[in-house]
Amino acid sequence: MRPLLTLADVARNPVDFATPLWAATGEQIFLRPLIPSDGEKLARFLAGLSPESRRLSTFASYDRATADELCDAIARYDKLRLVLLDGGQSIVGLLEFSFDLTGGDIARYANYGEPLNPATDCRFGPTLADSWQNRGIGSLLLPALWEIVGRFGRSRVILWGGVLADNGRAIRYYEKNGFRRVGGFVNGDGQECCDMIIVLEE
Ligand SMILES: CC(C)(COP(=O)(O)OP(=O)(O)OC[C@H]1O[C@@H](n2cnc3c(N)ncnc32)[C@H](O)[C@@H]1OP(=O)(O)O)[C@@H](O)C(=O)NCCC(=O)NCCS
Repeated sequence: MRPLLTLADVARNPVDFATPLWAATGEQIFLRPLIPSDGEKLARFLAGLSPESRRLSTFASYDRATADELCDAIARYDKLRLVLLDGGQSIVGLLEFSFDLTGGDIARYANYGEPLNPATDCRFGPTLADSWQNRGIGSLLLPALWEIVGRFGRSRVILWGGVLADNGRAIRYYEKNGFRRVGGFVNGDGQECCDMIIVLEE
């Protein structure tokens, strides 16, 4: 059996975790881990998100400060972040995992009768640039993402902060890709959210 990956392994050799993919248009796109020199590109991606995308996928800010914070966090905490690059090498997606569950997650899932296991479960949050949404790209990325988190020993994925109950597209995206709705809750901002989970195939 291969030893489990660590965040330090990914940070040391990001190229080993890069995956070329093809959009339906034939354009080659590229999934790879976030690297320390991505600050400027990531800031451009965040700044370009529309108000609606910012409502559906929330960051501390949408500028260089958050971009630098995310780059500084590489391999320092519990987060694995990957980016999607278009043919011109601009960042057009940010795919985030946390390998640390919150007390709130653990309590909610226990209430649903679906207890979480901090050793095998992780949290996932995807954000695509507006012009890249609704084109099947989010779905295209998932097998490569599941392969990477599987190598961290993770076999179940839940949604990071749930999904807003009025985010019909994301709910459809998760369901068509094998996530199951397990319950609902109201978040700290008073918004209705759904909790969803997927069990990854061996
Ligand atoms: C959520 C997200 C990652 C999904 O990726 P994507 O590439 O857009 O998803 P896909 O194109 O693979 O699938 C979207 C599905 O939703 C459907 N859809 C689109 N708008 C919809 C709506 N308003 N209601 C219901 N379904 C909708 C699409 O038709 C498609 O389903 P289909 O393949 O059966 O036709 C991406 O849209 C995104 O980044 N959105 C903004 C941020 C966000 O919501 N993040 C998730 C936070 S939990």
